[in-house]
Amino acid sequence: SLVPVILSGGTGSRLWPLSRKSFPKPFVALPDGENLIQKTLHRIINLGAEGPILTVTNRDYYFLTRDTYAACAKTRHCKIPDAHYLLEPEGRNTTPAMAAAALWAREMEGDDAVLLFLPADHLIADEARFGAAVRSAAALAGQGYLVTFGVTPTAPETGYGYIQAGESLGAGRQVVRFVEKPNAATARDYLTSGDYLWNSGMFCMQAGSLLTALKDHAPAILAAASAATASATRNGDTWELGEEFAAAPDISIDYAVMEKAANVAVVRADFDWNDLGAWTGYSALMREDENGNQIHAHDSLFIDAQRCVVHSPDRLTAVLGLRDVLIIDTPDALLIADRRRDQEVKTIVERLKARK
Ligand code: GDD
Ligand code: MG
Repeated sequence: SLVPVILSGGTGSRLWPLSRKSFPKPFVALPDGENLIQKTLHRIINLGAEGPILTVTNRDYYFLTRDTYAACAKTRHCKIPDAHYLLEPEGRNTTPAMAAAALWAREMEGDDAVLLFLPADHLIADEARFGAAVRSAAALAGQGYLVTFGVTPTAPETGYGYIQAGESLGAGRQVVRFVEKPNAATARDYLTSGDYLWNSGMFCMQAGSLLTALKDHAPAILAAASAATASATRNGDTWELGEEFAAAPDISIDYAVMEKAANVAVVRADFDWNDLGAWTGYSALMREDENGNQIHAHDSLFIDAQRCVVHSPDRLTAVLGLRDVLIIDTPDALLIADRRRDQEVKTIVERLKARK
């Protein structure tokens, strides 16, 4: 059976000040009014999966998540399928979250349950092609592969994982090498070689295959997740993981498993994909004027301005004589930055935290 798992836990600090700790990226309303986690839920409903849907998130976001799913059912007039929740006492990155999901799925559906991990903060419009890629991935996962979805790279981004694809394998390819977040020079080499794909951040794998990989490559994480699952408190469709979870090393699945495992495969993500990682990704959803300014504003005026990004839903915003500037205006915080340095916005959040 296919078990979709929504991973919702990152704070999305590169989208500060729109995305905040108390109201992170998956819940931020997009220019079209819907938010990313609602879109993710819909993508799953449209896959036609009949089994349970699992959401792994921090316990702080439990009610916000439930309410958001309920609102989604109302606006789109759909029935929310069998939703279950695994609540983390503390965010420990994707490996512990995925480990807990695999342990839960093994318990509920058995070792060969195929898990489809979907980040709560991706945007994909072409759901038919997405569905086809998922079916290809699930077939490979059924053979024991840890399946990634590879996106054709368009720039030497350093915020992504890079996948070198090899021999054909079913509807996909064997993975020769997986490199998480290479430095700028390496990313440039990978891009010009034409040999690499970006890792989309979605994964498909059997519960048993993931647990085996964790035993081999990340035993400390598996141990902490096992202890936290064993001591979890269940309340209907919700499992609150035990405090042992906090002892898991904080490391993403990309470093902990994908870079190391030999049985990794990739299927092409031949659909549109935007992970809205930083402001340049988010701004692709905004209206664009003839000078390349991207705008989501109550009202705006641009004079001699090019390639600026303005998010200012509550106020008239005027820009004069600027190029490549991010202007992000929210009720209690204002960001002004060089748009070419949008990846570094997370440094602002780190510094602000350190100041407290
Ligand atoms: N439940 C839970 N708990 N979810 C988490 C946690 C956690 O502690 N940490 C992160 N997540 C969720 C995030 O909310 C997001 O949906 C997803 O897992 C990926 O985490 P990110 O922090 O956004 O990862 P990334 O963007 O640095 O890198 C990943 O995604 C890229 C594509 O967007 C990697 O898989 C890269 O290889 C990939 O290219
Ligand atoms: Mg991300």
